[in-house]
Amino acid sequence: MRAETHTTMSESAKQRVGDVVAGWVEDGMTVGLGTGSTAVRAIEALGRRVRAGELDVRGVATSFFAERAAREAGIRLATLDETDGIDLAFDGADEVTPDLTLIKGRGAAHAREKIVAAASRRFVVLVDAGKLVDRLGTAWPVPVEVHPMAVAPVSRALRAMGGDPVLRLGARKDGPVVTDQGFWVLDVRFDGIDDPAEMDRRIKMLPGVFDHGIFVGLATDVLVGHEDGSVEHRARA
Ligand code: A5P
Repeated sequence: MRAETHTTMSESAKQRVGDVVAGWVEDGMTVGLGTGSTAVRAIEALGRRVRAGELDVRGVATSFFAERAAREAGIRLATLDETDGIDLAFDGADEVTPDLTLIKGRGAAHAREKIVAAASRRFVVLVDAGKLVDRLGTAWPVPVEVHPMAVAPVSRALRAMGGDPVLRLGARKDGPVVTDQGFWVLDVRFDGIDDPAEMDRRIKMLPGVFDHGIFVGLATDVLVGHEDGSVEHRARA
């Protein structure tokens, strides 16, 4: 399965970080399965280990995309109701700061991705060096998932907070992108975010917002694929 992507991250770099995280999964684990063009490489790599008989694991999918990729890869699926938390989750990201704060949601799966990340003992983020930023919100907008009837008031509130919200439109569908939950997405450009934790709380508090793509304090590890073929491991301090 393939997803659209927004960086020049090479296919081989995606493969390498996917292979590394799949190698971290142990027999019997419950694994959070991320969404996007990088996470799908890890799902496929994990599926190869399952099919080879090395592992018996259960996956918790972050989206319809991840669910379908897991089925194709031969990974058994479970819901959070059926598990006692998640041992390890992996996922891609759009921006990563030095303290492992993230922007996610290019694929509009950020709300379920955050539920899975928050339920995981270890949350591993898979990126290339082009997604590393010094300050959050400088390269990528913050996706805000919103109930359709709240788009106007939430947009006004986001503008008052210094953002520039734009309703995300479908590429091969007329009209708004509709999330797996049936909500819409506002992509909000900020000229950098000084206090991501404060912005996280303020956006989450707006009536009509389901969730947004700022991830604070959730990532425990980042695997960075470099152009020279190396994979760098950064762990939360
Ligand atoms: C899905 O909604 C996103 O959070 C992706 O995980 C993130 O945008 C990274 O995607 P790529 O790995 O495709 O760049």
